[in-house]
Amino acid sequence: LKFVCISNDGVDEHMIWLIGLKNIFAKQLPNMPKEYIVRLVMDRSHKSVMVIRHNQVVGGIAYRPYLNQKFGEIAFCAITADEQVKGYGTRLMNHLKQHARDVDGLTHFLTYADNNAVGYFIKQGFTKEIHLEKDRWQGYIKDYDGGILMECKINPKLPYTD
Ligand code: ACO
Repeated sequence: LKFVCISNDGVDEHMIWLIGLKNIFAKQLPNMPKEYIVRLVMDRSHKSVMVIRHNQVVGGIAYRPYLNQKFGEIAFCAITADEQVKGYGTRLMNHLKQHARDVDGLTHFLTYADNNAVGYFIKQGFTKEIHLEKDRWQGYIKDYDGGILMECKINPKLPYTD
């Protein structure tokens, strides 16, 4: 089992994983247009943290780091159907936080959570109260109705992964 963070860099293995993740998103997020998922996952300003097992993608989180604003926007998050509720979603989020803090230098995450995923995000430390000053994120993240804006502050010191 491994956790990787990659973007569209043209490396064959990475492209195969990104396509695998795109397919999981398309299946698990049926309300999202497939073209939109492909566009963001393949967009070079987005990155994806993924769980890989036996060289197969189990799930992942695609996000866009806003380096100057020091926050990241989570675009999509999903685990393949038969592997949900086994703890992968939590481990994935911890790897994302560690990478975003240590590599990107981010302090917060924002996401528009689907109603049915609010419970998962709360367990990952997200809140519906937005503490980040509006001028740090307004105009950067895309409005999306049908979702609830949620925030997570990344702990500056906590070891999120072992
Ligand atoms: N609602 C409430 N609680 C949840 C949900 C949920 N939908 N999913 C998981 N949990 C809880 C689990 O019970 C667990 O609680 P516990 O720690 O008390 O045992 C905790 O959250 C973590 O569970 P994991 O096993 O780590 O979560 P999982 O691997 O299933 O990943 C995820 C969670 C990503 C939501 C997965 O279930 C999934 O892919 N769902 C379908 C797609 C989806 O809804 N994605 C999010 C859409 S919003 C967005 O993408 C921005």
